[in-house]
Amino acid sequence: TISNSTNIFWQECPVGKAERQKLLNQKGCVVWITGLSGSGKSTLACSLSRELHSRGKLSYILDGDNLRHGINKDLGFKPEDRTENIRRVGEIAKLFADAGLICIASLISPYRKDRDACRAMLPDANFIEVFMNMPLELCESRDAKGLYKLARAGKIRGFTGIDDPYEQPLNCEIEIQQNNGVCLLPAALAGQVLTYLEEKG
Ligand code: PPS
Repeated sequence: TISNSTNIFWQECPVGKAERQKLLNQKGCVVWITGLSGSGKSTLACSLSRELHSRGKLSYILDGDNLRHGINKDLGFKPEDRTENIRRVGEIAKLFADAGLICIASLISPYRKDRDACRAMLPDANFIEVFMNMPLELCESRDAKGLYKLARAGKIRGFTGIDDPYEQPLNCEIEIQQNNGVCLLPAALAGQVLTYLEEKG
C-alpha cells in the first residue's frame, strides 16, 4: 500500500492473530454484504449476527448508514465519496478480522473496483462477498425509507439503481435470490451464509 506519510515504521505486537483466534475459538473474517438499498442487507446482517452469537461466535456489524453518522459523516454519495467510504470500511473490517471477529459489513458498495480493493486487503478466503441479488422493482416497492420515491421525483440525485449505477459482483462467494418470486425468511438467509462459513471452517 502507498502511504503519504514518510518516516513511519510497522510496530509488531506481542500477541498475534493466531493467539487471539485461539482465545476466541474462531477465525476472523469479513462477510461483505452488497446490494441495492432495500435489498435486505441489514436484515441479513442482523439475522446472521444473532445466529452467530447464539453459536458462541463473536461478530460485529459495520452498517453503511450507521457509519455515516460517525467516522464517515464527512462523506456524501458522489462516486469519489462512495469510494472513500468503502475504502475506510474495508480498512476497519480488516482490523476487526485481524482482531479475530467475524466482521459483517453491510453497505451498498455499488462499484466493483471498490469491493475488489477491499477483497485485496484480505487473504482471499477471509473475504466473503454476499450479493443480495434482488430486482430493483422489489427494492423500490418496499421503499421503507421513502428514498426511491424522492429519487424518482428528482429530489435526491445520484441514487443507486435510479441515476447512479450498481455493478453486480462477477465472482461473489454467495448470491442471495428470491425463490420463485418469494423472499426467504431472515433466518433462512442467514442459514445460507452460516453453512458457507461452517464449510470453510
Ligand atoms: S455506499 O454507496 O456503499 O457508499 O452507501 P452506504 O454507505 O451503504 O449508504 C447507503 C444508505 O444511504 C442512504 N442513501 C443513499 N443510498 C444510495 N444512494 C443515495 N444517493 C443515497 N442517499 C442516501 C440509504 O438509506 C442507504 O441505506 P440502505 O440500508 O442501503 O437502504
